[in-house]
Amino acid sequence: MKTIFSGIQPSGTITLGNYIGALKQFVDLQNDFNCYFCIVDEHAITVPQDPQKLRKNIRSLAALYLAVGLDPEKATLFIQSEVPAHAQAGWLMQCISYIGELERMTQFKDKSAGKDAVTASLLTYPPLMAADILLYNADLVPVGEDQKQHLELTRDLAERFNKKYADILTIPDISLPKAGARIMSLQDPLKKMSKSDPNLKGFISLLDEPNQIVKKIKSAVTDSEGTIKFDRDNKPGVSNLLTIYSILTEKPVSEIEEMYSGKGYGDFKSDLAEVVVNYLKPIQERYYNLVESNELDEILDRGAEKANAVAGKTLKKMENAMGLGRKKR
Ligand code: AQP
Repeated sequence: MKTIFSGIQPSGTITLGNYIGALKQFVDLQNDFNCYFCIVDEHAITVPQDPQKLRKNIRSLAALYLAVGLDPEKATLFIQSEVPAHAQAGWLMQCISYIGELERMTQFKDKSAGKDAVTASLLTYPPLMAADILLYNADLVPVGEDQKQHLELTRDLAERFNKKYADILTIPDISLPKAGARIMSLQDPLKKMSKSDPNLKGFISLLDEPNQIVKKIKSAVTDSEGTIKFDRDNKPGVSNLLTIYSILTEKPVSEIEEMYSGKGYGDFKSDLAEVVVNYLKPIQERYYNLVESNELDEILDRGAEKANAVAGKTLKKMENAMGLGRKKR
């Protein structure tokens, strides 16, 4: 059975973008692959986080993993900082990364733009992400399109390591969703939807209340044309809403365009709000039953134990190949 690894940062409450681009794929893949799904809290601290909020977000993301349908009997769910091999292998990956290639990463450019002081970790985020994936010998990494460049770098680093030291690391492939690999902000449809967007109207979080969802969708930026047609270049706002509608209802975009032929954005938006509210309702119910439960801690403890065993083995092989320590371990 092939192995899958993917992670999400607990840098806020996950959005419909994270769900459609990543989590939804996780749920589909868990039946056919040996899956590791991680809460990458060490990635979240590459930008400032309030410690109390971070703790809350970690637990909340774990409960959401389960609430959307991940099954701990099928997939290993764990928290990155509870598996020290991630930070250790991240350092090894940094030691074979070049500053030039890290500076070319668009996420680094976006997150450091206009800042007076930028942390070193924002630059070294991709080698840590490479370590996350490579420690589990992952064959496939399901992510949204924004992570494609980081995945390409992961492949480069793995090949570099194998060539320089020993042929230990598996070169992973990327798995992008067929549709919705890039869900856009509701307020700026040229920018991706992000959970840490300071403009709260730009994203729908999986835990938003129905009235918040209605308000956000009603105020989503569209255009002045008034027709419900998919045209990413000329109608990015409407196209983004159509994508969300289509994925959540499993109806083809063309069928939705037909349903709204002759109707205005008002009708379309209120129906979409209803679709989103109804889709999220059972997820939210499961979430609130789980978030404070002991069951959640037990699942995460078991996940950490399994992840530590697998990641520890790969780390040892990497350290041995690099000649670390007094003798082979
Ligand atoms: N807008 C999006 N559309 C589709 N997929 C998306 N992903 C993120 N945004 C979208 C996918 O979600 C997964 C988890 O991402 P992450 O939390 O590790 O980091 P990110 O990509 O930086 O996500 P955010 O929401 O934008 O977080 P912040 O605001 O903290 O930077 C990844 O698979 C990603 O592709």
